[in-house]
Amino acid sequence: MKEFVILAHNYVRPEVQRMADFVGDSLELARKVKEVDAEYIVFAGVDFMAEMAAILNPDKKVIHPDPCSKCAMAARIKAKDILKAKEKYPDAEVVTYINSSSEVKAVSDVICTSANAVKLVKSMKSNRIIFAPDKNLAHYVATQTDKEIIPVPENGCCPVHHALTLEDIARNLEGYPEAEVIVHPECTPEIIKLADFVGSTSALIRHIKETGAKTIIVGTEMGIISRMKRESPEKNIIPASKYLVCPDMKMITAEKVIKAMEQKGPIVHVDENVCQGARKALERMFELSTPER
Ligand code: 13P
Ligand code: SF4
Repeated sequence: MKEFVILAHNYVRPEVQRMADFVGDSLELARKVKEVDAEYIVFAGVDFMAEMAAILNPDKKVIHPDPCSKCAMAARIKAKDILKAKEKYPDAEVVTYINSSSEVKAVSDVICTSANAVKLVKSMKSNRIIFAPDKNLAHYVATQTDKEIIPVPENGCCPVHHALTLEDIARNLEGYPEAEVIVHPECTPEIIKLADFVGSTSALIRHIKETGAKTIIVGTEMGIISRMKRESPEKNIIPASKYLVCPDMKMITAEKVIKAMEQKGPIVHVDENVCQGARKALERMFELSTPER
């Protein structure tokens, strides 16, 4: 058994991605976490990802190189907001985006990621779904299903993706009118409407490899661009806005990863009660979503 396995999200710094044993989107990372054969999982991503690893593989010690690296969208919802919504809509099921705290996951029926949100919502028994915490992803899911989607909170979103504007896309299309526009579903409904392809971070990377288009305008966080260029060197890959930078993802530096391995910490701890509830909701996600790729 190895001592350390480094797992990294597609948005972390390129040098951290190069140090990693596996780089992926949230769903791929959640699956990977369960099969890791190492004493320590070093998680290069934001806090909810490292907690998710500790919840899904309690036999391993999970190290988060910087516990201050927190997803700004996940911070916008608390467990009490979900409980209140459940009281208001007792017939609804709660589908919560993986970008949420462990406490919020623990009071949810099932967890989804950007890769499987549509599929999961379609598979729910109830016609009414409380969807937390991203209103943009909630809107996208509503356009792809017949379900009534209630976003909780009303205004939850990722500040990074929400900042991408139609003007940003138009400016790029002026220079490259033939380009394809591909975006993450955390972007606003107006952006999603004009996009040629919408998908999770890894789905965007795959799409670039598979599309016939030569020039692709990419509407998501900048950290993904270096991997796209590395894996599709023949394509002209243009970030829709170079200001789409998640400061919390960037807090995970190569130096912090090395220090964390030397010190074998900080170790992620999740309260046992919270852990049980969150694990149930995460495991339900695996039951309901068969692996696509
Ligand atoms: P993915 O699950 O698509 O990798 O996205 C995670 C995320 O934080 C997007 O902002
Ligand atoms: Fe959270 Fe947005 Fe950063 Fe993704 S890009 S981790 S949703 S703040």
